[in-house]
Amino acid sequence: MSNDLFDFGMIGLGTMGRNLLLNMADHGFAVIGFDKDETKGSALLTESSSTHHVKAVVSLSEMVQQLKTPRKIMMLVPAGKPVDDVIESLLPLLDKEDIIIDGGNSFFNDTLRRTNYLQNKNVHFVGMGVSGGEKGARFGPSIMPGGDIAAWNYLKPLLEAVSAKVNNEPCVAYMGKGAAGHYVKMVHNGIEYAIMQLISEVYDVMKKGLQLNNQELHEVFKHWNENDLKSFLIEITAAIFLQKDELTKNDLVDVILDKAGSKGTGKWTSQEAMNLPVSIPTIDIAVAFRDISVYKEERVAAAKIFGTKDQMITADKNNFIQQIGEALQCAIIISYAQGLSMLHKASEIYQMDIPLDDVVKIWRGGCIIRSTLLEAFYESYQKNKNLSNILLDEIIASLIESKEKSLRTIIAKAMESKIAVTGLMSAVGYLDAYTSDRMPTNLIQAQRDFFGAHTYQRIDKDGTFHTQWNN
Ligand code: 6PG
Repeated sequence: MSNDLFDFGMIGLGTMGRNLLLNMADHGFAVIGFDKDETKGSALLTESSSTHHVKAVVSLSEMVQQLKTPRKIMMLVPAGKPVDDVIESLLPLLDKEDIIIDGGNSFFNDTLRRTNYLQNKNVHFVGMGVSGGEKGARFGPSIMPGGDIAAWNYLKPLLEAVSAKVNNEPCVAYMGKGAAGHYVKMVHNGIEYAIMQLISEVYDVMKKGLQLNNQELHEVFKHWNENDLKSFLIEITAAIFLQKDELTKNDLVDVILDKAGSKGTGKWTSQEAMNLPVSIPTIDIAVAFRDISVYKEERVAAAKIFGTKDQMITADKNNFIQQIGEALQCAIIISYAQGLSMLHKASEIYQMDIPLDDVVKIWRGGCIIRSTLLEAFYESYQKNKNLSNILLDEIIASLIESKEKSLRTIIAKAMESKIAVTGLMSAVGYLDAYTSDRMPTNLIQAQRDFFGAHTYQRIDKDGTFHTQWNN
């Protein structure tokens, strides 16, 4: 009888759910999927091979009955109410010690609420980030589970088998207590937003400023991907410039409307950073610029009022492109620094015990922000697991120092040509403030005390002070 039972159940057989199940089946696990939409179940079966042990059902109870105990059931449904609805329909069907996994991009506070709720019902709950898109799910994602440590121990062999591997090491690890899994995934996405913003800015500089065509842009990104900037996002950017549009036969990138979508994880990262508080300006700018892009009609009207500008940059092309690459790398490192410092702070505030060394270790492969840089960050955290900011690591600092001049040069040139490089600017601004032993915030404190008696601290004595300012 037990041979007929399944190792793992999936609720939601969209592309991600289907691909994850097929990935598990590739690794010899018997898997069963549920979706009310019968065509999704059929797609799962069509895509499975004869060696797979796979089944699709349209009844939740039918799925639950056919799982080995403790049952391991993952939901891949849209974040928000659908997750609560699925939990409610599952609960009457489950036994003590069964495990529910939320593999979607849920908001971490919802995950925390669900963890506490299900703990009272003796059901394990794991909030788990999964990154890598459709291909990642099918052939090896980066997986960020958190919360219930007992459940993690049950899930470990399966998740290790299906995750991406780097140097034969699985890109999955326990991310910490409570909502740590979804928290780490949220910040992953915030960094993803920042890197995408920075790449779009240097694209603008090269397209408008240097008048590079798509073939030339492809070659630049391809070259970068073979060198210091090697990463998934640079790799796909190189490929994007070669893609033709089936309708017009023109380059596809040129016919795509310049309005960026977003599902919310970037915004959550920014909002949450302000709550902590911690400073992540490059992620904030990335969110803000996706937002401004949506105001297309207003932008077109404003462009008419302000007139079309000559945005050409005069510079030695090859040398300038090399500097752009260095500027981009520098700003990308600073974006990781912001995101990772946020995780450090959040781990402390919410007592999540997030192992930062493991975070960067499992981001080395499978996920959207995978990059060779992660290896360097991994080395930094291996030296000091509790590093509050990777900019404090000497090796990372010297990497930044070797590139920051290019970052400043590119920003200055772009600004003269009226090309918005606000992400790059925010990165250098963060660097300058973070590495400043004397910020001008003494003046802000003086102003606050002047108009509102908000008090200030002194550099030469302990205590809190207020002055009767002369007006
Ligand atoms: C991933 C991605 C994935 C998704 C983003 C897109 O890690 O695989 O981050 O989670 O593609 O949520 O987010 P936006 O729609 O907000 O750009």
